[in-house]
Amino acid sequence: MESQLPGRDTSVMQVACDIETVRSFLAPARREGKRIGFVPTMGALHEGHLTLIRQARRDCAVVVVSIYVNPLQFGAGEDFSRYPRQFERDREMCEREGTDLLFCPTDALVYPDGYATNVVVERLGDGLCGRSRPGHFRGVTTVVLKLFGIVSPDVAYFGWKDAQQAIIIKRMVADLNIAVEIVTMPTVREADGLAMSSRNQYLDAEARRQAPAIYAALEKARAAWREQGIADCNTLAQIIRDHIRLNTSGRIDYVEIVSLDRLAPLGCVAPGNTLVAVAVYLGAARLIDNIRL
Ligand code: PAJ
Repeated sequence: MESQLPGRDTSVMQVACDIETVRSFLAPARREGKRIGFVPTMGALHEGHLTLIRQARRDCAVVVVSIYVNPLQFGAGEDFSRYPRQFERDREMCEREGTDLLFCPTDALVYPDGYATNVVVERLGDGLCGRSRPGHFRGVTTVVLKLFGIVSPDVAYFGWKDAQQAIIIKRMVADLNIAVEIVTMPTVREADGLAMSSRNQYLDAEARRQAPAIYAALEKARAAWREQGIADCNTLAQIIRDHIRLNTSGRIDYVEIVSLDRLAPLGCVAPGNTLVAVAVYLGAARLIDNIRL
């Protein structure tokens, strides 16, 4: 597909549900050395996803988006069955953003009978979200590597909203010498600060009203560090916990301050290498957010 040709009809987007269609669609572009950009998603698309697609559109001749709600990355009792599925809306959004190929595989295609291979990035997936979601990152890395194997993109786009995921995927790509450049994009937020998430749909009016307190708590810690010079991580984490407890009825899963490179707990803020990450069960959702210091 000549996605860069002048006069290209941007309304033409190919939808593929099988691997052969993906490979044959991309073959000419690959032969011509065109840059192929890839945005993996689980659908229920919002502005966060769209910034990734737009960046891919700017950087690449061909843009591939995948929508697949990956059962492997959901634990027992998590929200796999109620995860929002709104394919027609998503399809239109992808088309509007100039996506060339939308890949929507089925479970049988991704995990056929006899499937036996998993990808585990050691250590980085143990803490933060990994502690309350054992096996989650194993599911993520497995499906992302499979998608990379199917699409063979030159570059793939991930959001900082899921900082631990982005860090783990970068590690996987480096460790396994996968020829994909990983580009990360900043967290896109609602006007009141709430990080956009497909899971925000689970929030009722009261939970939605309280939810911005999570980012406000992170910003409060940032201000305490910047303006009062508080660099002690226990103190900063306590500021965050107090703000969330005071302003929401949510239950804190974790507040952690770790190094960006190894996700190892820090005693003191290391400027430029500090990730402040939180997860909160609020209403019917588990919300995550983070900032970097
Ligand atoms: P999903 O939650 O649909 O997110 C797809 C991509 O969008 C991820 O890279 C995520 O970090 C990014 N994203 C989500 N919300 C964002 C926001 N508010 N701002 C910026 N980027 C945002 O993450 C997954 O799907 C899956 O784990 C996946 C990588 C597709 C593997 O199944």
